[in-house]
Amino acid sequence: MKKNKIAVAVALCMAAVLTACGGTAKTETTKAAGAETTKAGAETTVAAETTKAGAESSAAGGKLVMVTNAEFPPYEYHDNNDIVGIDADIAKAIADKMGMELEIQDMAFDSLIPAVQSGKADFTAAGMTVNEDRKKNVDFTDTYAQAAQVIIVKDGSEIKAPADLDGKKIGVQTGTTGDIYAGDIKDGNIQRFNKGMEAVMALSQGKVDAVVIDREPAKVFVKENAGLKILDEAFTEEEYAIAVKKGNTELLEKMNAAIKELKDSGELQKIVDKYITAK
Ligand code: ARG
Repeated sequence: MKKNKIAVAVALCMAAVLTACGGTAKTETTKAAGAETTKAGAETTVAAETTKAGAESSAAGGKLVMVTNAEFPPYEYHDNNDIVGIDADIAKAIADKMGMELEIQDMAFDSLIPAVQSGKADFTAAGMTVNEDRKKNVDFTDTYAQAAQVIIVKDGSEIKAPADLDGKKIGVQTGTTGDIYAGDIKDGNIQRFNKGMEAVMALSQGKVDAVVIDREPAKVFVKENAGLKILDEAFTEEEYAIAVKKGNTELLEKMNAAIKELKDSGELQKIVDKYITAK
């Protein structure tokens, strides 16, 4: 039954002028989740069924709502009123491939998974590391980036390797893997900050001895703050993926297909190169 509707919608859509089709989707789907005359409308019907909170879910409007924490350059950060970065561009490319509009909302990092779980957002792309605990709460797409937690210290610090962190004051961003893994440091005194940059400023001011944070943001922050350096030895190696609501296989599969296309076509690498220049 649903499949028929989709087939009809797709056929109608292909018969229509593409722009007109997209335009209709945007205006009509807000009131009619089951709009049968647009491709986006048809997809919406499916999306609405896969999320419990389908009614509020913005996927019901031919639109994908992404949540992120835009304090994480080069993956997501504010550029005047816009949220830009690798994740924003990847999400936009995925939404384009799905024929959906993209809306990005900014929130605290530790609110991202709850927002996806409650259906307030369709997905989160936030330089989010795949880990077993998070897998209990959300489903992850295929990974799209290699990452690492690194250690930032002041120039001349006696901390030269991860093992030297024992008993030290360590700054992290709340709820990140840096926060989680710093918990393993013997007698470590963990200081949590809302933003990674705030942890780095605390380091500059001598309020913490080291910061554990993701490698690429670390490079950006160290560049912006004189007198700091990144230790050669990483704290952990990890991988980033997008997270969707548990059980939303429809969206997960579409996103994985789009990610594969972006990888195969070299588009993903192009996006990365746009934000990460000389290594
Ligand atoms: N990769 C780390 C994690 O998953 C940190 C991500 C922080 N992302 C952000 N947008 N602030 O926990």
